[in-house]
Amino acid sequence: MTPLLEVHVRQRRYAQGEAWNEVLRDVHVRVAAGEIVSLVGASGCGKSTLLRIAAGLDREADAQVLLDGRPVIGPTRDIRFVFQEPRLFPWLSVARNVAFDLDDGRAQPSPRVEELLAEVGLAGLGARLPKQLSGGQAQRVAIARGLYVQPRVLLLDEPFSAVDAFTRLKLQDLLLRVVQAHGITVLLVTHDIDEAVHLSDRVIVLDSGPGRIAAEVPVSVPRPRDRDDPSSQAAFADVRRALHLAHAL
Ligand SMILES: Nc1ncnc2c1ncn2[C@@H]1O[C@H](COP(=O)(O)OP(=O)(O)O)[C@@H](O)[C@H]1O
Ligand SMILES: [Mg+2]
Repeated sequence: MTPLLEVHVRQRRYAQGEAWNEVLRDVHVRVAAGEIVSLVGASGCGKSTLLRIAAGLDREADAQVLLDGRPVIGPTRDIRFVFQEPRLFPWLSVARNVAFDLDDGRAQPSPRVEELLAEVGLAGLGARLPKQLSGGQAQRVAIARGLYVQPRVLLLDEPFSAVDAFTRLKLQDLLLRVVQAHGITVLLVTHDIDEAVHLSDRVIVLDSGPGRIAAEVPVSVPRPRDRDDPSSQAAFADVRRALHLAHAL
């Protein structure tokens, strides 16, 4: 089966004074349509770098990104990015933030905005300003904005790291619901093993210096998943072991 998303990185290095800091080498990630894949690894191992490459945001990398077999040469509507912080425009309403990519913050937000807001649990809050939202609500807006352009792939870089643990669990289940409802393929960076196991069909473990794929752990726990299910705990142990072998723990 052809993967929907392929990220082939031969090398990514950054100039460091006279020398080079080689961050990624020979990393090949393939994600099938509808699949949810997590990237985990030590801080600084190149996860965000890899995700930026996948988004077509890194022109310096020696890399190729393919969507449905076709090269991605820059940012595209088909591949959307959700960052660790919501990155909302503070002067625009929630509804206009959601619609910004298509409507440029000027047009009257379409009825689809209200539908999306309801879907992420923010029905009726479209007129609010970002400063009137909690951190978790703001991140829900960021997810709605990611969905508004109807992308095929959503890339998320530690999307729930800045919210409290309770909100985090709720946002994980929200993400699962919406990506399944919209048939979206997901590549996600997290440093939380529980989160990786709960969300993913497959967990890719990176090692560092330079970042390479150390292991891929399939998570074959049936959905909807019960966090306390022994098979989830077995998958957790597999990922933790792989991280340990990759010297990330
Ligand atoms: N724009 C940049 N210029 C120079 N070095 C960078 C830049 N972005 C990232 N790096 C370096 O690349 C390495 C990987 O960074 P990053 O991909 O952010 O790691 P991670 O997301 O896994 O924590 C780090 O050593 C970081 O310092
Ligand atoms: Mg990062």
